[in-house]
Amino acid sequence: MISIAKSSKPLSGNIFVPGDKSISHRSVMFGALADGTTEITGFLDGADCLSTIECFRKLGIQIEHSQRPMHGVPTITVHGKGLYGLSAPEGGLYTGNSGTTTRLLAGILAAQPFDTILTGDASIEKRPMNRIIKPLTQMGADVSSIKGNDCAPLMIRGGKRLHGITYHSPVASAQVKSCILLAGLYSDSDTVVYEPALSRNHTEIMLRAYGVDVHNEIEFQGSSAAILHPGTPLRGIKINVPGDISSAAYFVVAALLVPGSDIIIHNVGINKTRAGILSALTQMGADIELENVDESMEPHADLHVRYSRLHGNANGRFELSGKIIPTMIDELPIFAVAAATADCTTVIKDAAELKVKESNRIDAIVNNLKAMGADIEATDDGMIINGGSPLHAADIECFADHRIAMSFAIAALVAEGDTRILDDKCVGISYPTFFKDLNTLIG
Ligand code: S3P
Repeated sequence: MISIAKSSKPLSGNIFVPGDKSISHRSVMFGALADGTTEITGFLDGADCLSTIECFRKLGIQIEHSQRPMHGVPTITVHGKGLYGLSAPEGGLYTGNSGTTTRLLAGILAAQPFDTILTGDASIEKRPMNRIIKPLTQMGADVSSIKGNDCAPLMIRGGKRLHGITYHSPVASAQVKSCILLAGLYSDSDTVVYEPALSRNHTEIMLRAYGVDVHNEIEFQGSSAAILHPGTPLRGIKINVPGDISSAAYFVVAALLVPGSDIIIHNVGINKTRAGILSALTQMGADIELENVDESMEPHADLHVRYSRLHGNANGRFELSGKIIPTMIDELPIFAVAAATADCTTVIKDAAELKVKESNRIDAIVNNLKAMGADIEATDDGMIINGGSPLHAADIECFADHRIAMSFAIAALVAEGDTRILDDKCVGISYPTFFKDLNTLIG
């Protein structure tokens, strides 16, 4: 439990946030499947990414983990063994709280010559796996839910010959898309994944850098496709992981909300499939400047953020729906906190995926914001927030969900009284130094 008081002074200063979680996971996974060595700087040392490292160690991959002398930046060396170099693990593989590890790994394991049992913590055992079992089965894999409830633990039987498919995913999910593309690496023909809107495309960008023939296309009527042509081996590369925009988002909103704040967050990933939060907040009047933009493999920039009054359009409304949703899916909890303080009614639609994240985030956001005095109601696929009611302290239930804990730590900065975050430890999933960095900015 941690108690956070209303901030009596502006946030100021410069910080770096830890490395991007999605890119960190993938750098280890793809490095393991590559021939040669992959060197990763700026790796995220959060519990989820450490689960990925542990799984690949059990699959026979040597991975060195060190802190770069002087700056303490986590550096990882993965000694890849090529597409066919993994060996059968002793016992099952445990993915902790990590949906990305579970779903992406399932795509890789489906193509191995050995059987694996894949499981995770209580939250993972409740998250839907049918969304990957179905396409993997169509590819010829043998993957099943051991308890028969479409959830982990998963039994993955090896030794199957996989073939490429054209799959129309009903959800815009990078985990589903990436799972299928990874199985596609081992298939005997092309794999095409359509999704209703483009979800984060790190798998496509990074696999291409590793030498794989894969690309995105926007099809007519706006649906998006990822197309992978198998047969090229992966080659080890050097990767510089940019700061995680999902982690930066907490401080972006904190600076916007606390009067007089002026902060810079350095080296933040701004891949357009991830940066919806910046565009949504800017449309609401946020003063966020991108400085030192670097358009490399994964674009990144410094975010200069100053206190701003957030508002809606001329009718006092702001609607968030459609294709922007997947580009800020993990930022919707902190966006809802910002919306609760804005001079408008915010309607969030098309976000039913929030119900199947680490917790049911529609319930977690709505119940906690209500407890703090916000005027908010849940809908089937989002929420309606009548912004501007003064917030007051409350006891925050986190449901072991890191993004709920961090979002409400920021809400606490503008709430009268002392807010208690009942489970502060769960921030270690994606941002172990979150409270330390928040204190640096509060001064
Ligand atoms: C992720 C994809 C998203 C996101 C998760 C990380 C990834 O999940 O919520 O935190 O790294 O591919 P979905 O693909 O289920 O939307």
